[in-house]
Amino acid sequence: MQTEVQKIGERSLARAKELLLRGECVAFPTETVYGLGADARSDEAVERIYRVKGRPQDNPLIVHIHPGFDLGSLVYDEPYAQKLREAFLPGPLTLVYRSRGRVSVKVSCGLDTLAVRVPAHPEAQRFLRYVDIPVAAPSANRSKHVSPVSAQHVLDDLNGRIPLILDGGPCLGGIESTVCDITGPYPVILRAGLVTREMIAGVVGRCDEYIPREGEKVRSPGMKYKHYAPSCDTKLFAPADAAAALAEYRRAVQGGRRVRVLCEDAVAGMFPAEAVLDLGADGAAMAENLYRLLREAETCADLLIAIEPAERGGVMTGVLNRLRKACAGE
Ligand code: TXA
Ligand code: MG
Repeated sequence: MQTEVQKIGERSLARAKELLLRGECVAFPTETVYGLGADARSDEAVERIYRVKGRPQDNPLIVHIHPGFDLGSLVYDEPYAQKLREAFLPGPLTLVYRSRGRVSVKVSCGLDTLAVRVPAHPEAQRFLRYVDIPVAAPSANRSKHVSPVSAQHVLDDLNGRIPLILDGGPCLGGIESTVCDITGPYPVILRAGLVTREMIAGVVGRCDEYIPREGEKVRSPGMKYKHYAPSCDTKLFAPADAAAALAEYRRAVQGGRRVRVLCEDAVAGMFPAEAVLDLGADGAAMAENLYRLLREAETCADLLIAIEPAERGGVMTGVLNRLRKACAGE
């Protein structure tokens, strides 16, 4: 199959709609990462997503809709959900509702809930408005690989596997949406992201972060899988261990390895400039840069030495979660 990359316009949108209604997958930009979209109402189309990505069959998908789409046709509402929608949507917050069962059961892998996201990205909205169907979409990468934040990243992973990539330029959010379960008495974050626990608690008073207990059935099955990993070797150091990272860097270079160092701005000066992949100086910059730099690392290095940024809380919860998983090994 030939994969076309097209800027978003009348012609590419018409083509995207035709493909989706035929049960094919189309990649599209959002403010977080690129999504791999398919018609959420069709079993066959949703199965194709899992096949194209190589994704485990028990990891449910998010349904994407435009702001004018009738949310109530898909899910049952919850008492405090309106406040969250007013505060954060459209935007990088996915809410997990009780499902009305109107989309393919394959979307939620048999769970009785449905994750719904309304992206803020103008081109994502234009696409969703044009097709005007619920679009199931995971990140548009091969399963376990780093999520794509440009059309080129999608092409690198899925060339020949999908017919069309809608190119909306680089994603500025940089990490995936916050996934928040609202089926209980107060919201529980299943996956940290750009809308933080602090921000949600600020609106509805309380917000917990889900930590799976030993032996418990996980509430967000995606959390149990290795994720976000570049193809090169990785070694992760704590913020206080930058000196040990430098020693490791010197040893590896002497041993003939091609090494890059991923770190925040504050410690970048310890390493030769040409080896540094600089995450930046604050949470928003680090989120925006993380996946791009992880993908850059695998093209030019066989060892990535990563040093955790020192900041904690807020957006850094999501950034650190991804960085640790990227460097976790099997
Ligand atoms: O920013 C994003 O969320 C991107 C863009 C494309 O919108 N999408 C994305 O999808 O990251 P994906 O498939 O890579 O991650 C979806 C996450 C997984 O961790 C999955 O387990 C969780 O959402 N999820 C989906 N449906 C769920 C449900 N009904 N209950 C609990 N967790 C759910
Ligand atoms: Mg993903």
